[in-house]
Amino acid sequence: MSALPRGRAARRSGTIGQSANAIPWESFMSDKRKVLVTGASGYVASLLLPEFRKRYDLVLVDSRKVDGKGAEVPGIVEADLGNPDRTKYQHLFAGVNAVVHLAYRHSSRSSGATWGQDVPPLDRFDVEFANVQMAQNVYRVAYDAGVRRVAVASSNHAADWYEHALVHTRKKDMVFPHELPVSDNFYGWSKAAYELLAFPYASGIFGRKLEFVLIRIGNPYETNGPKHMQDASPSPEHGGTGQSNFKRNLGAHLSARDCAQLFTKAVEAADIRNEHGVPWALIYGISANSRAFWSLESARRVIGYAPEDDSEIKYAADIAAILTGPNAGAGPGKTGA
Ligand SMILES: NC(=O)c1ccc[n+]([C@@H]2O[C@H](COP(=O)([O-])OP(=O)(O)OC[C@H]3O[C@@H](n4cnc5c(N)ncnc54)[C@H](O)[C@@H]3O)[C@@H](O)[C@H]2O)c1
Repeated sequence: MSALPRGRAARRSGTIGQSANAIPWESFMSDKRKVLVTGASGYVASLLLPEFRKRYDLVLVDSRKVDGKGAEVPGIVEADLGNPDRTKYQHLFAGVNAVVHLAYRHSSRSSGATWGQDVPPLDRFDVEFANVQMAQNVYRVAYDAGVRRVAVASSNHAADWYEHALVHTRKKDMVFPHELPVSDNFYGWSKAAYELLAFPYASGIFGRKLEFVLIRIGNPYETNGPKHMQDASPSPEHGGTGQSNFKRNLGAHLSARDCAQLFTKAVEAADIRNEHGVPWALIYGISANSRAFWSLESARRVIGYAPEDDSEIKYAADIAAILTGPNAGAGPGKTGA
């Protein structure tokens, strides 16, 4: 992974001294960077923490001390980042160099139901609005504490209207991060909302530029072709058969090691400013999948992301059995039936 430029190299690349009140990278040179992770008891955090624990001085924040399976996550500081009284957790951000914002309230978790299957889509606004408010709380305390950069877990759902309406119907092959973020659900809307909420902070209008890398995560799980075939009921989000859902998740796959690389580089990339000098970068986060329908162009260019996995190779045996083998019978195309 790319190392942080130091001394003169850092000055040449413009990575230090660009915002007067931010804590400069240089202050962390002799020590590990101090990184605060929100939602640190959650699933995505579990993919990052093995690498993060080696590289950083961590502050792990969550509203619960156990993970989704009830196992204790070592080192968690409990805090409710949805609390509008920011004085309750502002102190945790003192001296922090970068924040990785993963905390997120599910609309279904409170009732223990499967993601997206209990609360009707029309009734999910309030919980998603609370997620936007939580992002604002985190951005604001990060700004006030002099944090240099925030890496935010966004989601492919921020622009999933394109996937649902156009990609699966063969009207569009690739979705790019610069396209208008339109979603057909409140979950995606809230992700797009807090991607855009970051821009005023990054613009410098408040006095200094708080840097942001917004990461639209794909499908950060192992993809199980045979299971897709057993459960061929249409997905609530993208419909389809077992074969088509398998194809979709091959395109969306993000391996654990690529996910760790993505967030590590989001924290460490030396210079994420765009051509206008605004440190606000929107990237997709998937592996180097042959069936990709989200562009990794900005991820590669801005933070130097170099994914190591391709679902086509990783799951070649399942693909042969389910999609391409003599008796597989799948239709043509990288997505859909
Ligand atoms: N898992 C996926 O498939 C996926 C895909 C794309 C994007 N994402 C995004 O990645 C992020 C992390 O997702 P995840 O799968 O790890 O979710 P998760 O539910 O496993 O973890 C979220 C964590 O946030 C914590 N949290 C909730 N409310 C909080 C609050 N008020 N204060 C402090 N902590 C709070 C929860 O306790 C939980 O541990 C989310 O923004 C999610 O939308 C996830």
